[in-house]
Amino acid sequence: MGSLTEAPRTNLPNSGHLAPPDFLSLKDVPDSYSWPQIDFNSSVGLNDPLVSVPVVDLTQPNVVKLVGRACQEWGAFQVINHGIPMGLIKDTESEARRLFSLPTEQKHKALRPPDGSTGYGLARITAYFDKKMWHEGFTMMGSPVEDASKLWPEKYKSFCDVMEEYQKEMKKLTGRLRRLILASLGLTTEEDLMLAGLGPSGEFTEGCITPLQLNSYPSCPNPNRAMGLAPHTDTSIFTILYQGDISGLQIFRDGVQWVTVPPVPGAFVVNAGDLLHILSNGRYTAAVHRVLVNQAYSRISIAYFYIPTPNTQIKPFSNLLEQGDFPRYRTVSCGEYISTKAKNQGKALSVISNMEQIENHENH
Ligand code: OGA
Ligand code: NI
Repeated sequence: MGSLTEAPRTNLPNSGHLAPPDFLSLKDVPDSYSWPQIDFNSSVGLNDPLVSVPVVDLTQPNVVKLVGRACQEWGAFQVINHGIPMGLIKDTESEARRLFSLPTEQKHKALRPPDGSTGYGLARITAYFDKKMWHEGFTMMGSPVEDASKLWPEKYKSFCDVMEEYQKEMKKLTGRLRRLILASLGLTTEEDLMLAGLGPSGEFTEGCITPLQLNSYPSCPNPNRAMGLAPHTDTSIFTILYQGDISGLQIFRDGVQWVTVPPVPGAFVVNAGDLLHILSNGRYTAAVHRVLVNQAYSRISIAYFYIPTPNTQIKPFSNLLEQGDFPRYRTVSCGEYISTKAKNQGKALSVISNMEQIENHENH
């Protein structure tokens, strides 16, 4: 997702069209949704471990090392044996399908306002691009009851119960993954974590915001011209995604090729976001990813974003600098990072980079 507190849309050329269309009524891809020259080259075999996003079993003894390596090389991995009941995952997926299969006018009743953070609407990264995406989304933060009761004046309870339960499980998994990722960066003891400015379990002391985003990519009459989600990095520490069993998600590996993330039954895709890239002083990659659409199926995914509160200060962990590294990024608050990204068409890392100063420093 682009950002939570989005750019003031009113200044943007593509502002004003907040509502996704009735995709199923479109017999072709309209010009405003037609992307020129999508690069479909993903020449690699899906079963080659060297070119496949690593699958990490959370019960493996060397899990910290596996997570660290995956974050470094891919900025992403899939997790299995995570302990989240399959029944809950399936229920969440089917409630999401129930929502997106409502009539368009009904969904528009819960439209996310231009300055709002929850409800039904276009992809959040829409403002960064000239073309629109073959996508509709629904965002929640905690209980979705306010928006859900606009969609189903009576039958919203099962939706809310399932979404709240799913968020509870995501919160637990977030804690586990955070500990593993911090350990992989050398922050294992409470003392290490405290020195890094974190709480005793590695939590951000100012708290965090954790939007849950349901994504729908309707089947598309001409998938060669449409884009489900354009290439982006997430504005999060990390994101936990359930992608069901229909492929579409791809990661841009080493800046050269798109690699499909194959659906693994019951697995979650975890991808590092911009903020982890900064905290790790650039060691961990913020995975550039996109979503392609297809003609046969409509695809659903469920994304949970782990983001510290806007006033949290983000800077490279000092334990990583003791080994002779220079801080590659200056300190920014999360809120400042988000607004910088919005002002710079989805690119913010170069704005807060210290690399120019480092080069100057080295040249003198
Ligand atoms: C996102 C995202 C991937 C997917 O929501 O930011 O990248 O497969 N989703 O839906
Ligand atoms: Ni994303």
